[in-house]
Amino acid sequence: MKRDFLSLYDLSKEELKALLERAKELKAKQKRGEGWRPLEGKTLAMIFEKPSTRTRVSFEVGMYQLGGHALFLSSQETQLGRGETIADTARVLSRYVDGIMIRTFAHRTVEELAQFATVPVINGLSDLLHPCQILSDIFTIWEKLGDYQVKVAYVGDGNNVANSWINGSLKMDVELRLACPPGYEPDRRILERALEEGAKVLLTHDPKEAARGAQVLYTDVWASMGQESEHQQRLEVFKPYQLNGALLELAAPGALVMHCLPAHRGEEITDEVMDGPQSVVFDQAENRLHVQKAILEWLMG
Ligand code: CP
Ligand code: NVA
Repeated sequence: MKRDFLSLYDLSKEELKALLERAKELKAKQKRGEGWRPLEGKTLAMIFEKPSTRTRVSFEVGMYQLGGHALFLSSQETQLGRGETIADTARVLSRYVDGIMIRTFAHRTVEELAQFATVPVINGLSDLLHPCQILSDIFTIWEKLGDYQVKVAYVGDGNNVANSWINGSLKMDVELRLACPPGYEPDRRILERALEEGAKVLLTHDPKEAARGAQVLYTDVWASMGQESEHQQRLEVFKPYQLNGALLELAAPGALVMHCLPAHRGEEITDEVMDGPQSVVFDQAENRLHVQKAILEWLMG
């Protein structure tokens, strides 16, 4: 049976750990300049209904490095933009390609694509989840701290990144504290499910409470793609949730500063912190490539 990568929740702890281990090996191989082409002759279709820099480039380069090929398909330039259904698109693409990555709005779209595709589907971000990002962030924490079962404070919007962090915390035993403004909490069902299944997740409205003693301080934009019209109003609400020098003071000494990027410098994160010695944001961006290569090899190899 084909497997998909739609949510970290769908994979077992062992599968996720194996992906991290494999990503470490693939990164080392790449750094040694050793070629490794398990996907020769294979193609990944990449459907983008939202913009992207990291996801697009890391998947495309990752496929190339693994010996395969990636196709960029924007919804405007395919028949999807003219109303061809996701189900029919899934059926057709499955006749040509060996895997499909999609970045879209409704999470249901990702699920429907996976349901009708006969090839593996990867969620490259939906309004609900961003699993490739968080698996790769856990990899970065492991790489930097030698352990990922640490205290992570996520400060800001309870968005797709926060939701995937909750799933990541459940699966990988990460102690997660989320500080979100009232009304901007993460998805309730995802949080309740994680808590019922024993995840160490604390939700607060107080960024200081979340940051105190944390080994990782993490943030994301205050208005995600698709929420541009709320940007102005969100600036006011989220002001107390900025990742700045004062907040970093409360974290554990040497705590990592993380951001999935793109950043709105001066809004959710200050230049001082993002460009400071504790920031690992660009290593974090690089690791998307290595972790996604492990995912591609697992699903399509
Ligand atoms: N972090 C991330 O997914 O970046 P892009 O939107 O540039 O792909
Ligand atoms: N929460 C952000 C993440 C971007 C990678 C968004 O959805 O726009």
